[in-house]
Amino acid sequence: MLRIQRALPEGYAGADPDDLARRIAAAKARLGDQLLVLGHHYQRDEVMRFADARGDSFGLSRIAAERRDARYVVFCGVHFMAESADILTGPDQQVLLPDLNAGCSMADMADLDAVEEAWEALAAVTDVERIVPVTYMNSSAALKAFVGRHGGAVCTSSNARAVLSWALGDPVAGVAGRGDKVLFFPDQHLGRNTGHQLGYEAADMAVWDPRRAQGNLEDAEIKAASLLLWRGHCSVHQRFRPEHVRDFRLAHPEGRVLVHPECAHEVVELADEVGSTDRIIQATAAAPPGAVLGIATEIHLVKRLGDEHPDKTVVSLDPLVCPCSTMFRIDAAHLCWVLESLLDGVVVNRITVDEETAAWARLALERMLAIT
Ligand code: 13P
Ligand code: SF4
Repeated sequence: MLRIQRALPEGYAGADPDDLARRIAAAKARLGDQLLVLGHHYQRDEVMRFADARGDSFGLSRIAAERRDARYVVFCGVHFMAESADILTGPDQQVLLPDLNAGCSMADMADLDAVEEAWEALAAVTDVERIVPVTYMNSSAALKAFVGRHGGAVCTSSNARAVLSWALGDPVAGVAGRGDKVLFFPDQHLGRNTGHQLGYEAADMAVWDPRRAQGNLEDAEIKAASLLLWRGHCSVHQRFRPEHVRDFRLAHPEGRVLVHPECAHEVVELADEVGSTDRIIQATAAAPPGAVLGIATEIHLVKRLGDEHPDKTVVSLDPLVCPCSTMFRIDAAHLCWVLESLLDGVVVNRITVDEETAAWARLALERMLAIT
């Protein structure tokens, strides 16, 4: 999706890092409690040090929903996160994204037209009333609204299991689901990994390819599948390969492997732990001194974990580091510009979701919050 960030005014790009840090701190102090700066774990340190709250996408959406007193929420993360914050905050609150080009390539792999087309194609083959649409948080507000309208819910990497159990039921616990099938978008890997956690086999899951007629599936494949997985992925997490895990284990036989569920299933199968960014942080903190941890997630988080735990060895499983290029767009210069503009009484880069979309998307987000 094309979003145009205009060039920063003079005095920001290329400014001395210490000067920017001093100006950000001063602006924050003057804005006081009316300002809330949220930082996703993948943010650069030069930005993260100014976050009032850090978190994964689930934690940050909760915080945005709870902090009704903050007039300005400056979201240091990516566009879909800022949209979710706007949906969950009150009408008097304004959400700002320091760089409008901070999108998410995975979120852009599913759009409303393609999902509506898929839904129609599915309706021609099976009873869509029995399909529960579930969208990963990494998706546009329009898709969250689609899900809200069709009885589904949003999920994040920390609650995908609970949301899919809610949708499909849990035969072991004797809990009925909301339907017989899930259409899960846009990340096939999170969907597949969670399906396996719930006991589904590869044969119970089919990949829906939005570029091909009827998702490139036969009628029988659609009817047989419990999970229809949208063919989308995260280019950062898809880089991790089983060979990385094997190389790490050869070098560190006593080491532990922690991976994000956006990684391919072949990688997740070899890991000791799989979980959201928050879970990876907790597992690192819980490891004993001297532990060696190989982590498959965005490099800024891996580096920060290494810095915060000097008594442990924390390495990226992929030796060719992989930053998230869109998260990386948020830097101290953009943060400073947004805050100093607020001091001048100008709100820049506000992210808004129209009321109708927001109402349906809120329903899907609130279902998620109620499930977890
Ligand atoms: P978390 O929900 O784990 O923070 O992940 C968000 C994300 O974009 C990971 O790539
Ligand atoms: Fe999107 Fe991947 Fe970046 Fe997460 S790491 S924001 S899924 S591109």
